[in-house]
Amino acid sequence: MRTIDWKEESNSVVLVDQTLLPKEYRVIECKTLSSLCEAIQSLRVRGAPALGAAGGFGIALAAFLSSAKDIESIMKDLKVAGKALKSTRPTAVNLAWGVDRVLKAVNDAYDVGGVRSTALQEALDIAEEDVATNKLIGKHGAKLLKDGDTVLTHCNAGRMACVDWGTALGVVRSAVEAGKEIKVIACETRPLNQGSRITTWELMQDKIPVTLITDSMAGWVMRQGLVDKVLVGADRITQDAVFNKIGTYTHSVLAREHEIPFYVAAPISTFDFEGWEGSVKIEMRDPKELRFFGTEQLAPEGVEVYNPAFDATPMENVAALITERGVFYPPFLLDEVLV
Ligand code: MRU
Repeated sequence: MRTIDWKEESNSVVLVDQTLLPKEYRVIECKTLSSLCEAIQSLRVRGAPALGAAGGFGIALAAFLSSAKDIESIMKDLKVAGKALKSTRPTAVNLAWGVDRVLKAVNDAYDVGGVRSTALQEALDIAEEDVATNKLIGKHGAKLLKDGDTVLTHCNAGRMACVDWGTALGVVRSAVEAGKEIKVIACETRPLNQGSRITTWELMQDKIPVTLITDSMAGWVMRQGLVDKVLVGADRITQDAVFNKIGTYTHSVLAREHEIPFYVAAPISTFDFEGWEGSVKIEMRDPKELRFFGTEQLAPEGVEVYNPAFDATPMENVAALITERGVFYPPFLLDEVLV
């Protein structure tokens, strides 16, 4: 199934619990808004585009759960739900984008039933469009990859981070589909290991050659000439920076040092056209994620921890932005992307 979807029989949100991968592929059903918020917060569903769909489906879920009898009351309920959803993870712009898109769509509804059906249709459209968008990103980005290239990636910007196909891994998939031989080096992505758990699993399923390294090995593999391109996704793109999983900035600096192109693949919904690096709130996560490795505590109890989920890569380090509207090169004039 897709990473996240709507279950018609029970009017609920169903999603693959990514915290269990690759050991177990389990689909969970979120029947309440709090269970969906919990799933987002604990990264059962994660990745910017998938969060966009989660935001949209969250508003649809709230519409079906609302006991309101009139349009004013249901709108009030949806606004409260939107606030709750947005507060779960602040950095990936897609979550708020998905919520706001559905909230805007329901403004045109005339009654409670209309709000419900409009919200659901808009959320389903977001999910459907995400797949088509990723295919386009893949098609445009595949042109940047040469037959025989080895691509280093960080975190998981694959089908599990989206509704399907993926952004950065979608580019790899599209290049492979076009007949190119592409190898991937997947960085582990501490502390939650989206790279070692999810990216490797996805690529192995597709029989795309993948080699796992720790995050700190990236510089050395580049120095040895083992990397042709670095390709990552994004959680938010402001006028001056690309926000992505912590560790991405380090890879961009290393890529620059080794004269390796650093590419970012993301849909337009990830762009924060008004934002600047300094205006973005970076999500801080539980210290336990660092003190523990899986279920085992490695660091001393009570050790001071700094655990930002994302970092910002300055645009100077980015060789190209790959979107569904094409590939953009420096200087990045975001107005051009808007057209
Ligand atoms: O904390 P996560 O796992 O949600 O972070 C995800 C990432 O940083 C991805 O690289 C990003 O969302 C792009 S996904 C297509």
